[in-house]
Amino acid sequence: MTSLNDIRSTFLDYFGEKDHEVVKSAPLVPRNDPTLMFVNSGMVPFKNLFTGVETRDYTRAASCQKCVRAGGKHNDLDNVGYTARHHTFFEMLGNFSFGDYFKENAIPLAWNLITKEFGLPKDKLYVTVYHTDDEAADLWKKVAGLPDERIIRIATNDNFWMMGPTGPCGPSSEIFYDHGPEIWGGPPGSPEEDGDRFIEIWNLVFMQYEQFEDESRKPLPKPSIDTGMGLERIGATLGGSHDNYSTDVFRDLIEASAHATGVDPYGDQNVHHRVIADHLRSTSFLIADGVLPSNEGRGYVLRRIMRRAMRHAHLLGAQDPVMHRLVPTLVRQMGQAYPELTQAQRMVEETLLAEETRFKQTLDRGLSLLDAEVEALEEGEPLPGAAAFKLYDTYGFPLDLTQDALRERGRDVDTAGFDAAMAEQKAKARAAWAGSGEQADDSVWFDIAERAGSTEFLGYDTEAAEGQIVALVSNGAELERVEAGAPVEVVLNQTPFYAEAGGQVGDTGMLRTETGVVEITDCRKTAGVYRHIGTVREGVIARGTPAELEVDHTRRTAIRANHSATHLLHEALRHALGDHVAQRGSLNAADRLRFDFSHNKAMTAEELSRVQTEVNAYIRQNAPVETRIMTPDDARALGAQALFGEKYGDEVRVVSMGTQAKSGKGATGDTYSIELCGGTHVRQTGDIGVFVTLGESASASGVRRIEALTGPAAQAYLAEQEATLSQVAGTLKAQRSEVVERIKALLDERRQLQAEVAELRKQLAMGGGGGAEAATEDLAGVAFLGQVLNGVSGKDLRGLIDEQKARLKSGAVVLIADTGGKAAIAAGVTDDLTDRVSAVDLVRTAAEAMGGKGGGGRPDMAQGGGPDVTRADAALDAVRAAIAKG
Ligand code: ALA
Repeated sequence: MTSLNDIRSTFLDYFGEKDHEVVKSAPLVPRNDPTLMFVNSGMVPFKNLFTGVETRDYTRAASCQKCVRAGGKHNDLDNVGYTARHHTFFEMLGNFSFGDYFKENAIPLAWNLITKEFGLPKDKLYVTVYHTDDEAADLWKKVAGLPDERIIRIATNDNFWMMGPTGPCGPSSEIFYDHGPEIWGGPPGSPEEDGDRFIEIWNLVFMQYEQFEDESRKPLPKPSIDTGMGLERIGATLGGSHDNYSTDVFRDLIEASAHATGVDPYGDQNVHHRVIADHLRSTSFLIADGVLPSNEGRGYVLRRIMRRAMRHAHLLGAQDPVMHRLVPTLVRQMGQAYPELTQAQRMVEETLLAEETRFKQTLDRGLSLLDAEVEALEEGEPLPGAAAFKLYDTYGFPLDLTQDALRERGRDVDTAGFDAAMAEQKAKARAAWAGSGEQADDSVWFDIAERAGSTEFLGYDTEAAEGQIVALVSNGAELERVEAGAPVEVVLNQTPFYAEAGGQVGDTGMLRTETGVVEITDCRKTAGVYRHIGTVREGVIARGTPAELEVDHTRRTAIRANHSATHLLHEALRHALGDHVAQRGSLNAADRLRFDFSHNKAMTAEELSRVQTEVNAYIRQNAPVETRIMTPDDARALGAQALFGEKYGDEVRVVSMGTQAKSGKGATGDTYSIELCGGTHVRQTGDIGVFVTLGESASASGVRRIEALTGPAAQAYLAEQEATLSQVAGTLKAQRSEVVERIKALLDERRQLQAEVAELRKQLAMGGGGGAEAATEDLAGVAFLGQVLNGVSGKDLRGLIDEQKARLKSGAVVLIADTGGKAAIAAGVTDDLTDRVSAVDLVRTAAEAMGGKGGGGRPDMAQGGGPDVTRADAALDAVRAAIAKG
C-alpha cells in the first residue's frame, strides 16, 4: 500500500472500527484558537475537548487533518525543498481520546496498526519516551516486546509536545523507522540524529496539562491522547523510501512541474521542483480555505510561500507563470478527499496566475539587484539590511525569499539592519499621516498598530470567531483593564467584525471573555487597527485575554443584502440610463441603501420602474456571488466598475454576480455585475429577497440619488403600502381594484359641484336666485348698477358684469368684491354709452377712492383692485358722482 489516498482511508477505517468518530478535516484557518496562525497539527480542532471547555457526543476520534507550518512555533518554510521531509503543507493522521483511554490503549492501537495493517517489520522500529516516563517505557516493552536499547529516553522538549505558546501539552512517545545503514544518520538522542536514516513516523502525545501565557501549567480535567502521523512520511516509508517526495502525490506534481518547465524532474534541478510541488499544495489549500495574498497576517504568509515557489520556477528558467498550470494535477490527486479544493479550483488558478504575473514583473530586476549587491561584498559578508529592505519594499521580495536566494551562495542577511530600515519606514509613514491633518489623537492607534500589527479580518467567511485582545482604549487612553459601565474600544489580533468602509457601515454585536461582556455598537479602523467601539456591560475585560466575538447576524444579513443590491442597482442604472452612470457615493446600512450616481436629469417613473424590475430579475436569477483578488489592471480589463474615492493597494478584490440575461445590454452569458469592492455580500443573489425603490431625487449638481430597501425591510414597506391602500378602499367603500376609478369619479363630481356652488354664490350675491333683482339707478340718463359683493371671487366678476350689461341693455355696471380685506373691482359699459362713459375711468375712480390706483381694460370692460374694501361704498359714491358729472 503506497498510495496516499489508500493509506489515509486505511488509517481512518482502522480507528473507525475501534469506536472512533471519524471527523472531517477542519479548515486551515483555526476557528477556535486566536493564538494560532494556521492549524498546525491534528489536535488543534479538538483543543477545547482536551481542556474540557467543550464536550461532544464522542470521546474518541480519528482524523486526517490539513496542516500548514509556515509561521509561528512550528515553521518549516525555510527547510522545504532542501530536506527529504519538511513541508509547508502536510496531512496529519491522528487518533484522539478525550479523557477516554490513555497510554495503555494508545500504545497497542498504534503498534497494531503499523506492524499488522501496514506491515512494517518490527526489527526496524525504535521508540522514544520522555526521560521520566517509566510507564510508557514499560508498556512498549510489554506490548511491543521491544528490547531496552530500542526504547530511548529523551530528556529534551523533543519528547514534550506543545501546540503553541499556550494550550494543551504533555510528554510524548515517538515511533522511529530505521531506513538502513546505507543512509547516513543515527538513532534519536545520538549526535547523528538529524540524518535521514532514523525517521520519526508517529508521535503519541500523552496530553496531561494546559499551558498558560505566564508559563504556568494546570493539569487537564482528564488525561487524554493526541497522536500525529504525517501521511507523506508514512507513505514514503511504506514505499520503501525515506524521501516524502517519492510518494505518489509528489511524484505527480514534480512531473507536472517538469512538464510545465521542460526541466528534468530528477536531475540536479530537483530541489526547485520539490519547492514548487510543496508550495503548490500549501497555497492551493490556503486559497481554498479563504486566505488570499495580502501584505498582512495570514495573507502575507501565503504570499511569501507563493513568491518563494515562483523564484524557484524562475530558477528552472520558466518564462511564463507555472504554478496555476499544476493545479489540475493536484485536484486530480487530492480533490476527492478534499472537495473544497475541487470547488475552489478556478479561484486557486486565477489567484496563482495573478500573483505570478505580477511578481514576474519585478522578480528579474530584483534578482539582478541582488546579484550586483552580492558581487560587491567580501567573501562571507552578509547582505546589508538596507539592500534586503530595498528588495522587500521595491521588488516585493519577502525577507525569507532573499534569504533563500542567498542560501544557495552560502550567505546571510543582516536582519537587524533590515528591521531597522523597516522601522524607519514606518516612522515616516506615521509622520506623513500626522502631517495630513487627521485627528491628532489618532497617535494611540499608530502605537497599537506598531506594537500589535494590523487586525486580520475574518468576516468574509465567518460572523463568529475568537480573537486575542491586544489593546483596550477608553476615552482616548490605553488601559490594561476596563470595568462595567465604561466606554471602550477593543483591539484584537483578528476579528469577524467589518469596520466601516466603502459605504458599508461597521458591524455591531457582542464580545465575551471569561470575565466580562462588551456590547459593540460600531466598528471602525485606523492605521489598519480595527476599533470595536462599545460599552462594557458586565464584569471587566483585560488586555491579553482571548475573547469570543459575535457579529449581530440579523443586522449583518440585512447589510449584505443591501450591499449586493447596490451592485445590481448600479448595473441596472447603466443599462437604463447609459454608461455615463458612475457611482458617486453609497450607504449600505441595515435598514436601507442609498446610491448616488452621475446623471444630469431626473429619472422618469418609467425608467425607475425598469431599473427596479431588472434588479429583481437578477435577484431571482439566484446567481452565486463570486469574489476574486487580482491586480487593478486585470480587474479593469475584466470591466470592473471602480468605486468612487476608494484607494487601492497592490491588489483589488473583485466582486461579481449574475449572468447577463437575453434582454440585457451585454452579450448573453457575460457576467452581469463586476465591481471592485471590499465589502461583505450575500452568497447568492436570491438572498437579497426583493428590491424596492423608495424614490429618486437630486443629491448634488449632476448627481442623482436613489434610496431603496431589500429583504424584510422591503417587505415591511410593501405591507405598509398595502395597509394604506386597504384603508383607502375601506374609506371609499370600494374594492381595491376600483379605487382609482372611484377617486377619478369623486374628483369629477367635486369639480362639478364647485362650479355649481360658484354659480349659486353669484346668483345669491346679485340678489338673484328668485329674490328681488338689484336696484338700478338713473344717473344723468345713464342706467347704473353699483354693488359690493361678498362670497364672489375676483375672477367671477367679469362674467357678472357681462350678465348685468345684457340685462340692462344700456347702462354702466361697477362691482366690487371683497377678496379677504382687499377689493377686486370690475366695471362694464354697454357699447351705446362708451363714448360718454369709459369703464377704465370708472375702475380708476373706484380704485383711487379706496386708496389704490390703476386698473385697466377697454372702455366697455375694465378691472382693477383696491387695498381696502371697507371703503367700497365710498368708491361707489365716487363712481356715481363721476357718471353724474358726465
Ligand atoms: N500533536 C502532535 C504532533 O503534532 C501529535 O506531533
